[in-house]
Amino acid sequence: MSIPDAPAVRLRGVTKDFGDGIRGLDEVDLDLAAGSVTVLLGLSGSGKSTLLRHLNGLHPPTSGTVEVLGQDLGSLAPGALREARESIGMIFQSFGLVGPMSVLENVCTGRLGSLRGPRMGLFMYPRAVRREALEHLDRVGLADRAHQRADTLSGGQQQRVAIARSLMQHPRLLLADEPVAALDPVSSAQIIALLMRLREEDGLTIVAALHQVELAISTADRIVGLRAGRVVLDRETSTMTAQDAARIYDSVATPTTGELEELTDMHPAQVRA
Ligand SMILES: Nc1ncnc2c1ncn2[C@@H]1O[C@H](COP(=O)(O)OP(=O)(O)OP(=O)(O)O)[C@@H](O)[C@H]1O
Ligand SMILES: [Mg+2]
Repeated sequence: MSIPDAPAVRLRGVTKDFGDGIRGLDEVDLDLAAGSVTVLLGLSGSGKSTLLRHLNGLHPPTSGTVEVLGQDLGSLAPGALREARESIGMIFQSFGLVGPMSVLENVCTGRLGSLRGPRMGLFMYPRAVRREALEHLDRVGLADRAHQRADTLSGGQQQRVAIARSLMQHPRLLLADEPVAALDPVSSAQIIALLMRLREEDGLTIVAALHQVELAISTADRIVGLRAGRVVLDRETSTMTAQDAARIYDSVATPTTGELEELTDMHPAQVRA
C-alpha cells in the first residue's frame, strides 16, 4: 500500500549528459502525485522522452535522484530495479507490437518480465496468463480480435493492444511517449479516453508526452513544459488555458528569465537564466 499523499514520482536535481556536450535534462525537480495525470509538453529535443526514460529506469541520471513509487531507482541492485520496473508500464507512438504475432500473444508478452525462460508461441504461456491477457483485451474492447495478426489492426487498435500488454504488468505508473502522435483525431480521443478510464479504475498515475496542446489541457491535471532539458512550466491545468500552454512553443530561442517567470510562476531565484 502506498502512503497517502506520497508522490508517485519525485525527481531532485536530475541532470543527464549524453556526452559531446549534449545535455538531455538539466537540474529537473519534479513531484507527481499518485493518481495524477501529467502531460509533458515541449519542442522536439526538449527532453520529454529522456525524462520518461528516467522514470522507468531505462536511463540512469548523470546526477540527481529519481524516486518512483517510493523507491530510489539509482540505489537498487539490478534484480530489484527489474522488479521496480515491473510496476511501470510504457506505451509508445509506434506501439511496439510484434506484427506477425497474434494480438493475444502480444498481450501475453507483457508478462515476460516476471516469467522465466523464453516463450515462443501462445501456448508457451500458462493458461492463467492467457486468460488474463484475454481479460485485458476485453477491457480495451478488442477481445474479438485476440487471434488476429497484430499488424492487421488499425493504429488505434494496435495502441489499445499495447495498453492491454502494459496492463499485464499490473502497473501503478503508466508512461506514454506520444501515444497518439500516429493516430487520427477520433482514434486519439479514444485512446486518451481509455487511459483516463484506466486511471479511474486502477488508480494509475500517468505521465504522457503529447504534442496536442488542446488535448493536453483537457486531459491532464498538470502540465510540465520542457525547454532544452529544463522545466520551464509547471502548472495545474485548472489555472491555465490552451493558449497559456502553447506558449511553451512560442520561441525556439532560449527565453529570457522574465519570459520564463511568466511561463512558470516560479520565483525568479528558482529560474536559471
Ligand atoms: N541516447 C542518446 N544519446 C545522445 N543524445 C541523446 C540520446 N537521447 C536523447 N538525446 C538528446 O537529448 C535531447 C532530448 O531528446 P529527447 O528525445 O528527450 O527529446 P523529445 O522532447 O522527446 O523530442 P521529440 O518531441 O522529438 O520526441 C536531444 O538533444 C537528443 O538528441
Ligand atoms: Mg520524444
